[in-house]
Amino acid sequence: MINNKCQIILDKFHDGNGNVTTILQDMQDTFGYIPEDAVDWFSKKLNIPASNFFGIATFYDEFYLKPRGKNIVTVCCDTACYVKGAENIVAKMRSDLKIADGEDTSDDGKFTVQKGSCVGACSIAPVVTVGTKTYGNAEADKASDILKEYE
Ligand code: FES
Repeated sequence: MINNKCQIILDKFHDGNGNVTTILQDMQDTFGYIPEDAVDWFSKKLNIPASNFFGIATFYDEFYLKPRGKNIVTVCCDTACYVKGAENIVAKMRSDLKIADGEDTSDDGKFTVQKGSCVGACSIAPVVTVGTKTYGNAEADKASDILKEYE
């Protein structure tokens, strides 16, 4: 199945002015992340070292090398939110979801918890976003209430 999806991306690449970055963008759109198998497949088909793909994929924040959660939870950790305890919210959510050190996604694939930058809502800091929904004046003690909405 991965081969079929990669072939579609490759056909598009040959039809246009594609490059490694556009292939990565298509992989991300298709799979939700950059699967190692897909990189190997393109590496062999195009005779481009896999390191070229991974070099770009690790340089840009928009690319993910691991599957992401169904719900992306972003806790703003810029100054206004930080001083109001944003890091505690991150810690509580990670703990509630049993996300291992070095990981950002729950084992069941339901949530990815990440730190984010200012979203321009400092007056209601600390701010948490889940998808397109924004939660202001968030509190670590009530972090699980936000998560429960998406269970
Ligand atoms: S610093 Fe968090 S919304 Fe501005």
